[in-house]
Amino acid sequence: MKSQDVVEQDQAIQPQMVSVEIEGKRYQVPAGITLMKALWYTGKNVIRGAGCLGGFCGACATYYRTKDDPKVKTCLACSKAVEDGMSFSFMPAFPARKASYDLIQLKDPKQDLFELYPEAPLCRNCNACTEACPQSIDVREGVWKAVFGDFKAVSEMFMDCVMCGMCTPVCIADIAPNLVALYASRAQGVHFTDKPEGLDTRIQEITDGKFNQDWDRVMKLSDEELQNTTAAAK
Ligand code: SF4
Ligand code: SF4
Ligand code: FES
Repeated sequence: MKSQDVVEQDQAIQPQMVSVEIEGKRYQVPAGITLMKALWYTGKNVIRGAGCLGGFCGACATYYRTKDDPKVKTCLACSKAVEDGMSFSFMPAFPARKASYDLIQLKDPKQDLFELYPEAPLCRNCNACTEACPQSIDVREGVWKAVFGDFKAVSEMFMDCVMCGMCTPVCIADIAPNLVALYASRAQGVHFTDKPEGLDTRIQEITDGKFNQDWDRVMKLSDEELQNTTAAAK
């Protein structure tokens, strides 16, 4: 039989548990772990939906609701901690329409937006996309910036977009704001942003094979030689 001390020690290392509902089924999980860890803790075999685990890849888009609040919210499962009474489920793959285009061939990218994404100007300002964004991007504003041709602002505003897609199913105008922003950002980069001085020269040098010998030499280095070379260069 355990002494009182051992019992108290055992209790001390027991994590505090909270009750959560995952895909409609209730579980007890340790307080403070992420939603993703709660999925693993309860034995779920997460194949689609687990990526970087650091809030960068957008793979773990999740719907959740907290106790006593009827509003369903969105988050990244790897970056949100469980709360007692919370319900959550992964967001299923959403069939958003992705326009296909060859950026280089576009003659008038700002006008072409209306052919590629004709629904973009139909935004009804509901702001649901902004509320759904786990990266706190002003998505609604970004859509309008794209519509009015301010692709530079869009590319800056969506710098932190992780392409989780959570702004899309909530859109009452059937816009995929993230894809509109992606198009505007790409077009900005290819057609409107000034290239850094010397970039074309360097690309030409690479194309002409100026660095091939150096590459061949580096590719043959062992890990140790590579580390020594890197250390010497510092
Ligand atoms: S803009 Fe959309 S896709 Fe990008 S992070 Fe926000 S919700 Fe996700
Ligand atoms: S969810 Fe759609 S309609 Fe609503 S503000 Fe965003 S883009 Fe506009
Ligand atoms: S797993 Fe990459 S953002 Fe969550």
